Amino acid sequence: MAETNKSIVILGAAGMLGTDLAAELTAQGIAPAVFDLPAFDITDSDQVANAISGCDLVINCAAYTNVEKAESEPELAYKVNADAVGRLGNIASAQGVKVLHISTDFVFDGTLDRPYVETDDTNALSIYGKSKLEGEKLLLAANPDSCIIRIQWTYGNNGNNFIKKLVSLAQRGKPLRVVDDQVGSPTATEQVSAAICKLIKNMPTGIFHLAAAGFVSRFDMAKFIFDKLAIKADLTSCKTSDFSSAAQRPLNSRLDCSKISSLLDGPIESWQNSLEKYLKQFRE
Ligand SMILES: NC(=O)c1ccc[n+]([C@@H]2O[C@H](COP(=O)([O-])OP(=O)(O)OC[C@H]3O[C@@H](n4cnc5c(N)ncnc54)[C@H](OP(=O)(O)O)[C@@H]3O)[C@@H](O)[C@H]2O)c1
Repeated sequence: MAETNKSIVILGAAGMLGTDLAAELTAQGIAPAVFDLPAFDITDSDQVANAISGCDLVINCAAYTNVEKAESEPELAYKVNADAVGRLGNIASAQGVKVLHISTDFVFDGTLDRPYVETDDTNALSIYGKSKLEGEKLLLAANPDSCIIRIQWTYGNNGNNFIKKLVSLAQRGKPLRVVDDQVGSPTATEQVSAAICKLIKNMPTGIFHLAAAGFVSRFDMAKFIFDKLAIKADLTSCKTSDFSSAAQRPLNSRLDCSKISSLLDGPIESWQNSLEKYLKQFRE
């Protein structure tokens, strides 16, 4: 992808979050230099060194994100999500470049009965979660001044996501079974991008949790979506254990966002408000 500005570099800029983040930065007058597969591979140290050379901040949105497939491709998941992130930390450190890295609620096992704070013990259940957790550790070891933002249940305009799949299946009259025992906060990538833009003005160090305000089960989220879109869906609830999936997922994905909230200008928008705005595209 074309390079436009060297003060901020986005890796993984063609992904769901990277696309919205690049647009938000550009709207704020700081068009970033953007890199992604196939022209750019984060596992190639020379390419990383060239990409971030001369910039002030690198934001890493590049990741191996296929949670199910990672169970059968652990080497690739670790190569992208862990080893490459550690090397990015070393290269950035040598060049005096600040790193902001995106991570996930999947670093937790979801067994706590309250929202997770940044200092809670991690215990990833899946290869994806374990590889992302290893990436966090390697990055902080290589570059302790880095900023890591753990996000969750994100949806955006670019690519496919849980919401698009639900709406598409319901519109085609397919029966839907959605789990009611996974709880979290559906979070718009536009919301994450806006928060990152505010945060980088002061560039904090350490781990932060970021999600839309409030919590909901996947099943209640589906009900909310069909209610707002006036779709009469054939929807029933079920349990995570009713599905046989390769990767285990945390049931409690709630993130406590108090730490990051204190650094943002205003309150974090509720999942209902941002999701309602997102759903407008399905009515048009
Ligand atoms: N989506 C969620 O619900 C969610 C939840 C929590 C955290 N996150 C985190 O949010 C971040 C952004 O993810 P996303 O949702 O935007 O996922 P995404 O759409 O899959 O974006 C990831 C991007 O990284 C690229 N990539 C993969 N391997 C690469 C490599 N070797 N070199 C360079 N780029 C590579 C992907 O390219 P290809 O598409 O060509 O593979 C894709 O463009 C990730 O760190 C992810 O772990 C996501």
